[in-house]
Amino acid sequence: MSATTFQFLVLWSFILAPFLSVEGKIPESCKKNECPTYDVTEMGKDYEIRSYNSPVWISTSPFQNNSLVDATLYGLARLINYVEGKNKEKKVIKMTFPVISEVSKGNSIVVSLYVPKANQENPPSADDLKVQRWKASYIAVRQYGRFVKDSDVKTEVAALNASLAATKWAAKTPNAIFVAQYNFPFELYNRVNEIWFLY
Ligand SMILES: *[C@@H]1O[C@H](CO)[C@@H](O)[C@H](O)[C@H]1NC(C)=O
Ligand SMILES: *[C@@H]1O[C@H](CO)[C@@H](O)[C@H](O)[C@H]1NC(C)=O
Repeated sequence: MSATTFQFLVLWSFILAPFLSVEGKIPESCKKNECPTYDVTEMGKDYEIRSYNSPVWISTSPFQNNSLVDATLYGLARLINYVEGKNKEKKVIKMTFPVISEVSKGNSIVVSLYVPKANQENPPSADDLKVQRWKASYIAVRQYGRFVKDSDVKTEVAALNASLAATKWAAKTPNAIFVAQYNFPFELYNRVNEIWFLY
């Protein structure tokens, strides 16, 4: 996909989305694309706790942008190039989901894409990207639909925090907070986003 096509599709979806947007529940994209596997260890009202077994990510360097939405578009465009072969080995790998953007306290943002199992041992390399290997982790998750908006992120993070207030997770400080997205920016239907508190 060329950069121009990408930008064109993104622009159109933003114009059409308010009219067509539909909330999704199960990430449809995980039926077509590989997503990291997990076990649900706890379910509560408006949240669940998942246990992930050492997922591997390919990540941008931290860069400055005061919009998580803009930063994600910019980072995802680079990561799509990467899976399409713009890496040192010119290796094409499978597109996966989710793409995750770290919600940091400053405006420095890292955008990452899940590395498929087949490539985790030896992911293609690129000078401007970094492989990240998480330890086995617990993640508290809140799911929501629509397009991610900068103005909603704070509210959704606060809502997950509130859902966890009466649980044992309230005593722990997350190591990081992410917005996980399971769609290309130009998809209008069945959009699924998640707030992740990583422990
Ligand atoms: C944030 O990213 C957008 C999209 O790439 C870009 O147009 C904008 O200039 C960036 N803003 C800053 C402050 O870097
Ligand atoms: C969650 O709520 C607690 C208690 O009100 C607060 O101390 C903490 O900063 C909140 N965390 C986030 C990520 O909002």
